[in-house]
Amino acid sequence: MSELESLKRRALDDLKTALDEVGLREWNSRYFGKAGEILAALKIVGSLPPEARKEYGQQANQVKVELTQAYETALAEQKQKSLENSLSAEKLDITLPGRPPRPGRLHLATQTLRDIQAIFAEMGFQVFRSREIESDEFNFALLNMPEHHPARDMWDTFHTTTPGVILRTHTSPGQIHVMRKFHPEPIRVILPGMCYRYEAITTRSEIMFHQVEGLVIGTSVSMTDLKGTITAFAQKMFGDNRKVRIRSSYFPFTEPSIEVDMDCIVCAGKGCSLCKKSGWLEIMGAGMVHPEVLRNGGYDPAKFTGFAFGMGPERIAMLRHAIVDIREFWANDLRFLSQF
Ligand code: DAH
Repeated sequence: MSELESLKRRALDDLKTALDEVGLREWNSRYFGKAGEILAALKIVGSLPPEARKEYGQQANQVKVELTQAYETALAEQKQKSLENSLSAEKLDITLPGRPPRPGRLHLATQTLRDIQAIFAEMGFQVFRSREIESDEFNFALLNMPEHHPARDMWDTFHTTTPGVILRTHTSPGQIHVMRKFHPEPIRVILPGMCYRYEAITTRSEIMFHQVEGLVIGTSVSMTDLKGTITAFAQKMFGDNRKVRIRSSYFPFTEPSIEVDMDCIVCAGKGCSLCKKSGWLEIMGAGMVHPEVLRNGGYDPAKFTGFAFGMGPERIAMLRHAIVDIREFWANDLRFLSQF
């Protein structure tokens, strides 16, 4: 037997004794490593007499190819075997309880806004969105509060560095946007959105809060429609037996202006700590749209009348859920938010 032949047999026998991947890799470096026997056998070629070189070289290469193939086959088999082993040994235990996903939820303010929108949608109101950054003109002047009008003091305002550009203090400027868009068609919309006021933050007031404005314009809209609409809203929101009363008030953009109260949901009018012994809770401001405001929106006050109202959904949510601190709404505390 030639030396090459016996090298090959020895290598193949050795390969059979390699029991795992580590053993196989050891075998590989023993025969094919830098100091391995195959390399050594190939190097010999140079020292042979020229006539013997060709045959020897071919044989050596042949041995190399056979051994490489044998090694690769053994390695692949070994890998397959260890995969099968681990699959049967480490069975997946699907009886372990899973990790439950933590579902998110809508913010209480959003939930309340959607409830309010749904109630007004049933009464045929559409939702109209308008901007949070407003001009002084829309926020005040076009709502019948020219510059230096003392009524402007009712709203503490955030100003931007651009003169005349402010954060809206109420959703009422949206009234002008809707009117200018739809005149001379009749209008029945609500305008929900965020408002901003430069105020001290207390349990009762925040620098940002939502409002829902309402606006109805037509050729025979009266105070009776206003009262009926608001009563229907209060009863849908707080329960069929709710009573509503209106008080005279003042807003520059309505004439007459009213304040709307609802009998207290805790004591039903008897007087308790929530209603401060009065038996009534204030829920919104409202009134008949001022002729000047109609005109600014493009409606002829000789032909058209309208009513408007404005309420704070956070206040409504506070009444509904007995929340005592309005600051909870934007404090981002999950202990509060996840209760609703
Ligand atoms: N804009 C008023 C406020 O922020 C609320 C309001 C009162 C809106 C009467 C109206 C209204 O549309 O008619 O306090």
